[in-house]
Amino acid sequence: MIKIRIFDNTKEAGIYAASLAEQVILRNTSTVLGLATGSTSIPFYDALVRFCNEGLNCNGVTTFNLDEYVGLPSNHPQSYRHFMDVHLFSKVKISDMNIYFPDGTAADLKAECNRYDNVLKDYELDFQLLGIGTNGHIGFNEPSHLLLSNTHVVSLSKDTIQSNARFFQSELDVPRQAITMGVQAILQAKQIVLMAFGYDKAKVVAQAVQGQIRTDLPATMLQLHRDVTFVLDAKSSSEL
Ligand code: F6R
Repeated sequence: MIKIRIFDNTKEAGIYAASLAEQVILRNTSTVLGLATGSTSIPFYDALVRFCNEGLNCNGVTTFNLDEYVGLPSNHPQSYRHFMDVHLFSKVKISDMNIYFPDGTAADLKAECNRYDNVLKDYELDFQLLGIGTNGHIGFNEPSHLLLSNTHVVSLSKDTIQSNARFFQSELDVPRQAITMGVQAILQAKQIVLMAFGYDKAKVVAQAVQGQIRTDLPATMLQLHRDVTFVLDAKSSSEL
């Protein structure tokens, strides 16, 4: 059963989601967080940074990000690594050695995916933060007739390219490919928190929670997990 929590605004929702992460961090001496990027996740990072400023100790935290665009170096303003630096890593004490990211500029992308999986297999994700695409993607596991369990290179769907064009000068500048963690690593996380806000996510949120499990709507896979919480606002929950 997916737990649903609905908040008046995205700030409150971010505080709730970050407090779930805080509980995990406080329970463990070393905590492994799986992290997402995108505009929905910003209130989560704002709240987590605030908690750290108020005394939460993140020294023992290790992080794995879900995905990265192919071709963008880590200092590119639209790379996901840069997003994380801006919203979290530059503001809290998480050691650089404990931050893991797929490298979208690797010469051999397949080898890079294997490298990421090899690191991942030595860790257990205690907490996985997710956003959701309007097409139902999680990470960059795009709708398809099949889903891949391991980290892989994915061709971004038209929907995703159009929706992410808002961050680039034009749609043509959006990278066509990304590296993403597969559904196995996501589903093996002990706890999953998916955040979604706004009317444009309402339909897909309802399908993810109540619809049939299908690979062309990857977020429906979350119904198979024991501990998933959807953190929503009134708009994104309006079709439930
Ligand atoms: C990014 C990621 C994606 C986003 C999703 C929602 O790391 O994993 O699945 O979470 O595309 O993006 P926003 O929040 O920008 O609508």
